[in-house]
Amino acid sequence: RTPLVIDTDPGIDDALAILLALASPEVDLRLVTTVHGNVGLGQVTENALRVLHLAGRSDVPVAAGARSSLVHPQPERAGHVHGEAGLGGVELPPSPAAPDPRPAVVALAELLLASPIPVTVAAIGPLTNLALLLAVYPEAAERIGRLVVMGGSAGRGGNVTAAAEFNIWSDPEAAAAVFGSTIPTAMVGLDVTLPTVLPEEGIARFAAAGPIGRTAAAILQQYVDHARDAYGTAGVVVHDALALTEAICPGTVDTVRRDVVVDTTLGAGRGQTLVDRRAVSPSAAAVQVAEEVDSEAAVEFLVWRLARLDVV
Ligand code: BDR
Ligand code: CA
Repeated sequence: RTPLVIDTDPGIDDALAILLALASPEVDLRLVTTVHGNVGLGQVTENALRVLHLAGRSDVPVAAGARSSLVHPQPERAGHVHGEAGLGGVELPPSPAAPDPRPAVVALAELLLASPIPVTVAAIGPLTNLALLLAVYPEAAERIGRLVVMGGSAGRGGNVTAAAEFNIWSDPEAAAAVFGSTIPTAMVGLDVTLPTVLPEEGIARFAAAGPIGRTAAAILQQYVDHARDAYGTAGVVVHDALALTEAICPGTVDTVRRDVVVDTTLGAGRGQTLVDRRAVSPSAAAVQVAEEVDSEAAVEFLVWRLARLDVV
């Protein structure tokens, strides 16, 4: 089983992504690190603890990370999408576990340095913690076997501004450091997440499986309502769960190796990921950029795995 760390800001789709990892025997979730993002750090850390507890896995340590972005404060959080407390207005029972006393980067560095086999890291929030790891513990960052990032967009524009996707826009300087590093990175952006819609019928299937599935469906309801009101769609885009699927089953998305430049200017393009499609050789920092996905298969996998949580 591949050791896995999830760096996250739960977040409705983050919660689903964590549950998906717990339902997947290919990976061994060893650590959850939290980062400011959808809502503030204290709340996302509490949410991560509660989601793990929901699945009976309060043994997985949760270490709190960056409270804010590296250079410029994040302009806006996403409480209007995820609910003010981040989990779609659902109040999960508190976990008996407390956060790990170590800061996220310390916990992550220690785990990476101690692991005899390569660790996969799924980063599904702003990239602040990963940038800090690169700056403070470069020797540990080098040990990451695979980094799967939910963020950015190669050709679909943005979701939070015309140019930028939320996670990259929340800390563009951090994203520039990560995409400019030699960590083997896959970028799972809006090009593949937006077409991957979890239909209400799929949600109903895992809701019927038992109490965990039912709670996951309740958390999703706010997202379903937001998608219907904002985009007129009958189903939801669970960005982070697709990134986790790629972390669990490499090759879920088709990628092309390209250099990715992040716009860190303060203008209208801030947070945009500029994917270099020129016919030049990619640099050592090039990223595996997701361009295509079999959305139906990915959604089926997610529904099947979530329904399994109540069985095993
Ligand atoms: C990303 O933004 C957040 O709101 C979601 O959790 C996801 O990580 C999608 O743009
Ligand atoms: Ca997220």
